[in-house]
Amino acid sequence: MDALVSLCKRRGFIFPSSDIYGGLNGFFDYGPLGVEMKNNIKAAWWRDFVHRRDDMVGLDSSIIHHPTTWKASGHVDNFTDPLVDCKVSKQRFRADQLFFAAVIVEAESAAPSGNEKQTIGYVSALESDRTDAELQEKAEQLKRKKAIRGKLLPVEARDMTQAKPEEIPLIPSPATGEPGSLTPPRSFNMMFQTYIGALRDDSAVAYLRPETAQGIFINFKNVVDTGRVKVPFGIAQVGKAFRNEINPRNFTFRSREFEQMEIEYFIAPDADWQKCHRDWIDAGLAWLESVGLPRADLSEYAHPKEKLSHYSKGTVDIMFKFPFGVQELWGFAARGDFDLTQHQKFSGKSLEYFDEVAKQRYLPHVVEPSVGVDRIFLAALCAAYTEDEAPDDKGKLEKRTVLRLSPRLAPVKVAVLPLVKNKPELVAVAEQLHAKLKRKYVVFYDQSGAIGRRYRRQDEIGTPWCVTIDFDTLANGTFTLRERDSMKQERLDEKALFALLDEKLY
Ligand code: GAP
Repeated sequence: MDALVSLCKRRGFIFPSSDIYGGLNGFFDYGPLGVEMKNNIKAAWWRDFVHRRDDMVGLDSSIIHHPTTWKASGHVDNFTDPLVDCKVSKQRFRADQLFFAAVIVEAESAAPSGNEKQTIGYVSALESDRTDAELQEKAEQLKRKKAIRGKLLPVEARDMTQAKPEEIPLIPSPATGEPGSLTPPRSFNMMFQTYIGALRDDSAVAYLRPETAQGIFINFKNVVDTGRVKVPFGIAQVGKAFRNEINPRNFTFRSREFEQMEIEYFIAPDADWQKCHRDWIDAGLAWLESVGLPRADLSEYAHPKEKLSHYSKGTVDIMFKFPFGVQELWGFAARGDFDLTQHQKFSGKSLEYFDEVAKQRYLPHVVEPSVGVDRIFLAALCAAYTEDEAPDDKGKLEKRTVLRLSPRLAPVKVAVLPLVKNKPELVAVAEQLHAKLKRKYVVFYDQSGAIGRRYRRQDEIGTPWCVTIDFDTLANGTFTLRERDSMKQERLDEKALFALLDEKLY
């Protein structure tokens, strides 16, 4: 991750937000290459899930909705995370990400009742892919420190939402290592609040949307009345969402401002929602593979029934193997008719759909595929980042950093490189080709430095192809096309180059 974060900053993919003021935790700015790649993710998703399907339409709703939207959706009451404060360090933790365990030592005893078990204290650790191991190590340290004899039992990790009231004062804060400073968990609403207009009282309170989904539900009737859509159909929306996350972490993975790509797919109440749900998960997996995420790094996680969100009949997440652990990438929730029912109730307007085939009126049910653009961005970078070796201009092997991004996502598609910059006839042809290519694609023109160095610069930002204009170009009109991953070179002419790009990029 460190190498990737550093590359992102050095090459202009992602900067910490408000960098000159010391940054702002949980916020990020996408630089010149980052914005291209982010736009490519959104465009590829939109093309594949909206334009290339007959059952989808798009929407772009406002970020701030009527505040009743969030009352109806349940966000005002339920969009909370359990929060634990450390009164000494002033740090805050998500209770479900703060793990603890009692440290229990078993001393051999001659008593007929058997060996004696004694709790000698508590240990804590923040969630990671080695939480259990960390707690066990800390338990061993505590036993050594207290010089207690006997057999240490394997620790049993629980999170702070499961702590009994009498245990809380005994659990050490992960910030200080000492017990006594953690508060009991309390609910913290993650919506960012603002005010509309000049008044700053309760009547003016509004929220920055924490998801794009509700914008779709509150426009359901508008789309049905105007869009010539028939159930089953879906509405897609891409846009910013805001959550006042307690613990933004893992670079952009959990941010406070991010972008979502969401679909609400409306089906008849008696339709087979499980099949629809499965079809969307499969479509998500296939799409992620098509944009370069290896299938071996993707897995599925079905939420246990007792942990489902208030609206969900069933949720499956596509997980990705990030360097910091296997984490949620894309959620697929079957929301039933929860949202339309709520908005119908709170607005007093009928949101029923008239099914002309079944001659029935009903509130459709939905399956919701919902994914973060920033998470796909991060997953694509993690999957693409590679260090290998390539020959320099003298044939000596040197370390090369290469982003093996899928051509559709790569910020720059082609680099145009005249072999040398002091031959005007080569430069003229290169400039002409550059001008033609940039009408259609994001192209980079680079004439400075040895050709190997120029290739390396493009490899590091994931440019799939470099085109070199050399003396043969002047003789027969062909260029050298060098492919990023294999580093193979072939000669081709302008027509073949455009054909290749069209095939690979759309
Ligand atoms: N409408 C349903 C919904 O918003 P969610 O699981 O809370 O469900 C959906 O979010 C997706 O949005 C996640 O799978 C993730 O890709 C992305 N996401 C959620 N919170 C995020 C955050 N704080 N930072 C970045 N992406 C986030």
